[in-house]
Amino acid sequence: MEIRIIGTGSALPARRVTNEDLSHIMDTSDEWIKSRTGIRARHLAVEETTTGLATEAAKKALHQADVQPEELDVIIAATVTADKFLPNLSCEVQSALGAKNAVAFDLNAACSGFLFALDVARRYLEDGTHKKALVIGAETLSKIMDWQDRSTCVLFGDGAGAAVLSACEETGEKRGILSTVQGSDGSRGEVLRCDNRPVSNPYTAKYENTLSYVSMNGQEVYKFAVKTVPEVIKEAVAAAGLTVEEIDHFLLHQANYRIIESVAKRLHQPMEKFPTNLEECGNISAASVPILLDNENNHGMIKKGEKIVLAGFGAGLTWGAAVLVW
Ligand code: UT7
Repeated sequence: MEIRIIGTGSALPARRVTNEDLSHIMDTSDEWIKSRTGIRARHLAVEETTTGLATEAAKKALHQADVQPEELDVIIAATVTADKFLPNLSCEVQSALGAKNAVAFDLNAACSGFLFALDVARRYLEDGTHKKALVIGAETLSKIMDWQDRSTCVLFGDGAGAAVLSACEETGEKRGILSTVQGSDGSRGEVLRCDNRPVSNPYTAKYENTLSYVSMNGQEVYKFAVKTVPEVIKEAVAAAGLTVEEIDHFLLHQANYRIIESVAKRLHQPMEKFPTNLEECGNISAASVPILLDNENNHGMIKKGEKIVLAGFGAGLTWGAAVLVW
Protein backbone atom coordinates (compact mmCIF):
# COMPACT_ATOMS: atom_id res chain seq x y z
CA MET A 1 0.00 0.00 0.00
CA GLU A 2 1.26 3.52 -0.80
CA ILE A 3 0.26 6.31 1.57
CA ARG A 4 -0.02 9.56 -0.37
CA ILE A 5 -0.92 13.13 0.50
CA ILE A 6 -3.72 13.93 -1.95
CA GLY A 7 -4.79 17.36 -0.69
CA THR A 8 -3.51 20.20 1.48
CA GLY A 9 -5.06 23.29 3.02
CA SER A 10 -4.20 26.08 5.42
CA ALA A 11 -5.72 29.02 7.25
CA LEU A 12 -4.31 32.11 8.93
CA PRO A 13 -6.09 34.66 11.12
CA ALA A 14 -7.03 37.92 9.40
CA ARG A 15 -5.00 40.17 11.71
CA ARG A 16 -1.44 40.61 10.40
CA VAL A 17 0.92 42.08 12.99
CA THR A 18 4.28 43.40 11.78
CA ASN A 19 7.47 43.75 13.81
CA GLU A 20 6.92 47.49 13.58
CA ASP A 21 3.45 47.06 15.13
CA LEU A 22 5.01 45.15 18.04
CA SER A 23 7.62 47.86 18.55
CA HIS A 24 4.74 50.19 19.52
CA ILE A 25 3.62 47.95 22.38
CA MET A 26 6.95 46.61 23.71
CA ASP A 27 10.67 47.34 23.75
CA THR A 28 11.66 45.64 20.49
CA SER A 29 12.46 46.57 16.90
CA ASP A 30 11.98 45.32 13.37
CA GLU A 31 15.78 45.24 13.07
CA TRP A 32 16.25 42.97 16.12
CA ILE A 33 13.52 40.50 15.18
CA LYS A 34 14.40 40.37 11.47
CA SER A 35 18.14 40.01 11.95
CA ARG A 36 17.87 37.32 14.67
CA THR A 37 15.06 35.27 13.16
CA GLY A 38 14.02 36.38 9.65
CA ILE A 39 10.48 37.04 10.89
CA ARG A 40 8.81 40.22 9.55
CA ALA A 41 5.18 39.60 10.52
CA ARG A 42 2.83 37.03 12.03
CA HIS A 43 -0.95 36.52 12.02
CA LEU A 44 -2.66 36.62 15.42
CA ALA A 45 -6.14 35.34 16.23
CA VAL A 46 -8.59 38.03 17.28
CA GLU A 47 -11.97 36.49 16.43
CA GLU A 48 -10.57 33.14 15.25
CA THR A 49 -10.23 29.95 17.31
CA THR A 50 -7.99 26.90 16.92
CA THR A 51 -11.07 24.88 15.92
CA GLY A 52 -12.16 27.46 13.34
CA LEU A 53 -8.70 27.67 11.76
CA ALA A 54 -8.28 23.88 11.78
CA THR A 55 -11.71 23.38 10.20
CA GLU A 56 -11.01 25.93 7.47
CA ALA A 57 -7.66 24.27 6.63
CA ALA A 58 -9.32 20.83 6.67
CA LYS A 59 -12.13 21.92 4.32
CA LYS A 60 -9.60 23.23 1.81
CA ALA A 61 -7.55 20.02 2.01
CA LEU A 62 -10.68 17.87 1.54
CA HIS A 63 -11.79 20.01 -1.40
CA GLN A 64 -8.42 19.65 -3.11
CA ALA A 65 -8.38 15.90 -2.43
CA ASP A 66 -11.97 15.58 -3.70
CA VAL A 67 -12.81 13.62 -0.55
CA GLN A 68 -16.12 13.91 1.29
CA PRO A 69 -15.99 14.30 5.10
CA GLU A 70 -17.91 11.00 5.52
CA GLU A 71 -15.09 9.19 3.69
CA LEU A 72 -12.59 10.04 6.43
CA ASP A 73 -11.63 7.09 8.66
CA VAL A 74 -9.14 8.91 10.88
CA ILE A 75 -8.63 12.51 12.04
CA ILE A 76 -5.52 13.39 14.01
CA ALA A 77 -4.91 16.94 15.16
CA ALA A 78 -1.49 17.94 16.44
CA THR A 79 -1.79 20.91 18.78
CA VAL A 80 -0.72 22.38 22.11
CA THR A 81 -3.42 25.05 22.03
CA ALA A 82 -6.78 23.33 21.54
CA ASP A 83 -9.68 25.57 22.53
CA LYS A 84 -10.83 23.19 25.23
CA PHE A 85 -9.47 20.49 27.52
CA LEU A 86 -12.56 18.51 26.52
CA PRO A 87 -13.63 17.63 23.91
CA ASN A 88 -10.42 17.41 21.92
CA LEU A 89 -9.74 19.50 18.82
CA SER A 90 -10.09 16.53 16.45
CA CYS A 91 -13.62 15.79 17.66
CA GLU A 92 -14.52 19.46 17.33
CA VAL A 93 -13.27 19.42 13.73
CA GLN A 94 -15.01 16.09 13.09
CA SER A 95 -18.27 17.63 14.23
CA ALA A 96 -17.76 20.83 12.20
CA LEU A 97 -17.02 18.79 9.05
CA GLY A 98 -19.66 16.12 9.59
CA ALA A 99 -16.98 13.44 9.33
CA LYS A 100 -19.12 11.02 11.26
CA ASN A 101 -17.24 7.84 10.29
CA ALA A 102 -13.83 8.96 11.53
CA VAL A 103 -12.01 8.08 14.72
CA ALA A 104 -10.68 11.41 16.00
CA PHE A 105 -7.99 12.20 18.54
CA ASP A 106 -5.32 14.79 19.35
CA LEU A 107 -1.60 14.41 19.67
CA ASN A 108 0.86 16.69 21.47
CA ALA A 109 4.46 16.66 20.30
CA ALA A 110 4.72 20.48 20.21
CA CYS A 111 6.43 21.83 17.08
CA SER A 112 7.14 18.28 15.85
CA GLY A 113 3.46 17.36 16.23
CA PHE A 114 2.57 17.25 12.53
CA LEU A 115 5.43 14.81 11.86
CA PHE A 116 4.31 12.54 14.68
CA ALA A 117 0.67 12.71 13.55
CA LEU A 118 1.65 11.96 9.96
CA ASP A 119 3.43 8.83 11.13
CA VAL A 120 0.47 7.63 13.23
CA ALA A 121 -1.92 8.24 10.34
CA ARG A 122 0.39 6.39 7.98
CA ARG A 123 0.35 3.36 10.31
CA TYR A 124 -3.48 3.44 10.42
CA LEU A 125 -3.60 3.39 6.64
CA GLU A 126 -0.79 0.97 5.92
CA ASP A 127 -2.66 -2.26 6.67
CA GLY A 128 -5.54 -1.31 4.39
CA THR A 129 -8.25 -1.34 7.10
CA HIS A 130 -8.48 2.48 7.04
CA LYS A 131 -8.42 4.28 3.70
CA LYS A 132 -8.47 8.04 4.28
CA ALA A 133 -6.97 10.19 7.02
CA LEU A 134 -6.97 13.89 7.81
CA VAL A 135 -3.87 15.17 9.60
CA ILE A 136 -3.98 18.67 11.05
CA GLY A 137 -1.52 20.98 12.76
CA ALA A 138 -3.34 23.91 14.38
CA GLU A 139 -2.39 26.49 16.98
CA THR A 140 -3.42 29.74 18.59
CA LEU A 141 -0.10 30.19 20.37
CA SER A 142 -0.73 33.86 21.08
CA LYS A 143 -2.95 32.86 24.00
CA ILE A 144 -0.10 31.06 25.79
CA MET A 145 2.50 33.79 25.23
CA ASP A 146 3.66 36.09 27.99
CA TRP A 147 3.16 39.41 26.21
CA GLN A 148 5.54 41.03 28.73
CA ASP A 149 8.34 38.67 27.59
CA ARG A 150 9.73 40.13 24.38
CA SER A 151 12.21 37.26 24.02
CA THR A 152 9.40 34.78 23.23
CA CYS A 153 6.18 36.55 22.20
CA VAL A 154 7.68 38.15 19.07
CA LEU A 155 8.61 34.74 17.66
CA PHE A 156 5.26 32.99 17.44
CA GLY A 157 2.04 33.20 15.40
CA ASP A 158 -1.34 31.51 14.94
CA GLY A 159 -2.71 29.35 12.11
CA ALA A 160 -3.53 25.87 10.85
CA GLY A 161 -2.49 23.47 8.12
CA ALA A 162 -3.99 20.16 7.03
CA ALA A 163 -3.30 17.24 4.73
CA VAL A 164 -5.54 14.44 3.47
CA LEU A 165 -3.82 11.06 3.24
CA SER A 166 -5.04 8.20 1.12
CA ALA A 167 -4.06 4.53 1.02
CA CYS A 168 -3.47 3.78 -2.66
CA GLU A 169 -2.66 0.52 -4.39
CA GLU A 170 1.02 0.30 -5.32
CA THR A 171 1.67 1.43 -8.87
CA GLY A 172 5.36 0.62 -9.13
CA GLU A 173 6.04 4.40 -9.32
CA LYS A 174 7.15 4.50 -5.66
CA ARG A 175 5.12 7.53 -4.56
CA GLY A 176 3.81 8.67 -1.19
CA ILE A 177 5.45 8.49 2.22
CA LEU A 178 8.69 6.50 2.04
CA SER A 179 9.96 6.88 5.60
CA THR A 180 9.22 8.53 8.94
CA VAL A 181 11.56 8.93 11.91
CA GLN A 182 10.87 10.54 15.28
CA GLY A 183 12.76 11.04 18.53
CA SER A 184 12.23 12.51 21.99
CA ASP A 185 14.38 13.55 24.95
CA GLY A 186 12.28 14.41 27.99
CA SER A 187 15.38 15.02 30.10
CA ARG A 188 15.88 18.35 28.29
CA GLY A 189 12.25 19.46 28.56
CA GLU A 190 12.99 22.48 30.75
CA VAL A 191 14.38 24.53 27.87
CA LEU A 192 10.96 25.10 26.32
CA ARG A 193 7.94 24.76 28.54
CA CYS A 194 4.47 25.96 29.41
CA ASP A 195 2.98 24.53 32.60
CA ASN A 196 -0.58 23.30 32.89
CA ARG A 197 -2.75 24.13 35.87
CA PRO A 198 -1.12 22.90 39.08
CA VAL A 199 -2.87 20.25 41.14
CA SER A 200 -5.25 22.34 43.17
CA ASN A 201 -8.36 21.25 45.01
CA PRO A 202 -9.85 21.72 48.49
CA TYR A 203 -7.37 19.13 49.87
CA THR A 204 -4.14 20.70 48.59
CA ALA A 205 -2.19 23.31 50.59
CA LYS A 206 -3.14 26.03 48.11
CA TYR A 207 -6.44 26.22 46.22
CA GLU A 208 -6.03 28.66 43.38
CA ASN A 209 -6.14 29.09 39.65
CA THR A 210 -2.86 30.14 38.06
CA LEU A 211 -2.09 30.63 34.40
CA SER A 212 1.28 29.76 32.97
CA TYR A 213 2.91 31.00 29.76
CA VAL A 214 5.61 29.79 27.40
CA SER A 215 9.18 30.20 28.60
CA MET A 216 12.18 29.31 26.48
CA ASN A 217 15.94 29.17 26.70
CA GLY A 218 16.39 30.27 23.09
CA GLN A 219 20.06 29.50 22.82
CA GLU A 220 19.68 25.94 24.11
CA VAL A 221 16.80 25.29 21.69
CA TYR A 222 18.90 26.77 18.90
CA LYS A 223 21.86 24.46 19.66
CA PHE A 224 19.55 21.44 19.88
CA ALA A 225 17.89 22.28 16.55
CA VAL A 226 21.03 22.83 14.47
CA LYS A 227 22.52 19.56 15.71
CA THR A 228 19.46 17.30 15.71
CA VAL A 229 17.59 18.37 12.57
CA PRO A 230 20.35 17.42 10.10
CA GLU A 231 20.77 14.09 11.92
CA VAL A 232 17.08 13.15 11.78
CA ILE A 233 16.88 14.24 8.14
CA LYS A 234 19.86 12.04 7.23
CA GLU A 235 18.29 9.13 9.10
CA ALA A 236 14.93 9.51 7.34
CA VAL A 237 16.56 9.96 3.93
CA ALA A 238 18.70 6.83 4.44
CA ALA A 239 15.62 4.89 5.59
CA ALA A 240 13.94 5.90 2.32
CA GLY A 241 16.89 4.52 0.37
CA LEU A 242 17.87 7.96 -0.92
CA THR A 243 20.69 10.49 -0.51
CA VAL A 244 20.18 14.13 0.56
CA GLU A 245 21.39 15.20 -2.89
CA GLU A 246 18.34 13.46 -4.40
CA ILE A 247 15.89 15.51 -2.28
CA ASP A 248 14.23 18.37 -4.18
CA HIS A 249 12.62 20.26 -1.27
CA PHE A 250 13.34 20.41 2.45
CA LEU A 251 10.31 21.79 4.31
CA LEU A 252 11.47 22.53 7.83
CA HIS A 253 9.70 23.76 10.92
CA GLN A 254 9.67 27.54 10.59
CA ALA A 255 11.29 28.78 13.80
CA ASN A 256 14.30 30.77 12.69
CA TYR A 257 15.89 31.49 9.31
CA ARG A 258 19.37 31.08 10.81
CA ILE A 259 18.50 27.55 11.98
CA ILE A 260 17.32 26.66 8.45
CA GLU A 261 20.52 28.12 6.95
CA SER A 262 22.63 26.14 9.38
CA VAL A 263 20.77 22.89 8.55
CA ALA A 264 21.24 23.54 4.81
CA LYS A 265 24.95 24.11 5.37
CA ARG A 266 25.37 20.98 7.46
CA LEU A 267 23.60 18.94 4.77
CA HIS A 268 25.69 20.66 2.03
CA GLN A 269 22.51 21.62 0.23
CA PRO A 270 21.63 24.99 -1.39
CA MET A 271 19.12 27.29 0.36
CA GLU A 272 16.95 27.20 -2.80
CA LYS A 273 15.83 23.74 -1.66
CA PHE A 274 14.61 25.18 1.67
CA PRO A 275 11.48 27.29 1.11
CA THR A 276 10.35 29.45 4.03
CA ASN A 277 7.26 31.33 5.13
CA LEU A 278 8.40 32.35 8.60
CA GLU A 279 8.85 35.88 7.23
CA GLU A 280 5.05 36.23 7.15
CA CYS A 281 3.93 33.63 9.70
CA GLY A 282 6.49 33.42 12.50
CA ASN A 283 6.68 30.12 14.33
CA ILE A 284 3.29 28.35 14.45
CA SER A 285 4.48 25.19 16.21
CA ALA A 286 2.61 22.09 14.91
CA ALA A 287 0.99 24.13 12.14
CA SER A 288 4.16 25.44 10.56
CA VAL A 289 5.14 22.43 8.42
CA PRO A 290 1.64 21.74 6.97
CA ILE A 291 1.11 25.45 6.24
CA LEU A 292 4.42 25.59 4.38
CA LEU A 293 3.56 22.37 2.53
CA ASP A 294 0.23 23.88 1.47
CA ASN A 295 1.88 27.14 0.36
CA GLU A 296 4.35 25.25 -1.81
CA ASN A 297 1.71 22.90 -3.18
CA ASN A 298 -0.71 25.66 -4.07
CA HIS A 299 1.93 27.81 -5.69
CA GLY A 300 2.86 24.90 -7.96
CA MET A 301 6.33 24.68 -6.43
CA ILE A 302 6.18 20.90 -5.92
CA LYS A 303 5.89 18.71 -8.98
CA LYS A 304 4.67 15.16 -9.27
CA GLY A 305 7.52 12.73 -8.62
CA GLU A 306 9.64 15.22 -6.66
CA LYS A 307 11.18 14.09 -3.40
CA ILE A 308 10.37 16.06 -0.26
CA VAL A 309 11.65 16.05 3.30
CA LEU A 310 9.41 17.39 6.06
CA ALA A 311 11.13 18.01 9.40
CA GLY A 312 10.11 19.39 12.77
CA PHE A 313 11.67 19.99 16.17
CA GLY A 314 10.57 21.55 19.41
CA ALA A 315 9.42 21.21 22.98
CA GLY A 316 9.69 17.86 24.70
CA LEU A 317 12.27 17.84 23.35
CA THR A 318 10.89 16.19 20.23
CA TRP A 319 11.98 15.91 16.62
CA GLY A 320 10.83 14.13 13.50
CA ALA A 321 11.28 13.87 9.75
CA ALA A 322 9.43 12.27 6.87
CA VAL A 323 10.46 11.59 3.27
CA LEU A 324 7.84 11.47 0.56
CA VAL A 325 7.55 11.39 -3.18
CA TRP A 326 4.88 13.83 -4.42
O1 UT7 B 1 9.65 25.89 17.90
C1 UT7 B 1 10.51 26.16 18.96
C2 UT7 B 1 11.70 26.57 18.47
N1 UT7 B 1 12.34 27.69 19.12
C3 UT7 B 1 13.42 28.11 18.55
O2 UT7 B 1 13.83 27.63 17.52
C4 UT7 B 1 14.20 29.20 19.21
C5 UT7 B 1 15.66 29.07 18.90
N2 UT7 B 1 16.40 30.19 19.37
C6 UT7 B 1 16.42 31.38 18.71
O3 UT7 B 1 15.84 31.48 17.65
C7 UT7 B 1 17.23 32.50 19.27
O4 UT7 B 1 17.95 32.05 20.40
C8 UT7 B 1 16.34 33.71 19.67
C9 UT7 B 1 15.84 34.40 18.40
C10 UT7 B 1 15.18 33.28 20.52
C11 UT7 B 1 17.17 34.73 20.45
O5 UT7 B 1 18.31 35.12 19.71
P1 UT7 B 1 19.72 35.22 20.45
O6 UT7 B 1 20.69 35.69 19.43
O7 UT7 B 1 19.98 33.90 21.10
O8 UT7 B 1 19.46 36.39 21.48
P2 UT7 B 1 19.60 36.38 23.07
O9 UT7 B 1 18.53 35.59 23.67
O10 UT7 B 1 21.00 36.04 23.41
O11 UT7 B 1 19.37 37.89 23.41
C12 UT7 B 1 20.29 38.88 23.01
C13 UT7 B 1 19.81 40.23 23.48
C14 UT7 B 1 19.51 40.28 24.97
O12 UT7 B 1 19.98 41.55 25.45
P3 UT7 B 1 21.36 41.66 26.27
O13 UT7 B 1 21.20 40.79 27.45
O14 UT7 B 1 22.42 41.15 25.31
O15 UT7 B 1 21.45 43.11 26.54
C15 UT7 B 1 18.01 40.28 25.04
O16 UT7 B 1 17.51 40.94 26.18
O17 UT7 B 1 18.61 40.61 22.83
C16 UT7 B 1 17.62 41.04 23.79
N3 UT7 B 1 16.30 40.72 23.31
C17 UT7 B 1 15.58 41.55 22.53
N4 UT7 B 1 15.84 42.79 22.07
C18 UT7 B 1 14.90 43.36 21.28
C19 UT7 B 1 15.59 39.58 23.50
N5 UT7 B 1 14.42 39.66 22.85
C20 UT7 B 1 14.38 40.87 22.24
C21 UT7 B 1 13.46 41.51 21.42
N6 UT7 B 1 13.75 42.75 20.97
N7 UT7 B 1 12.29 40.94 21.07
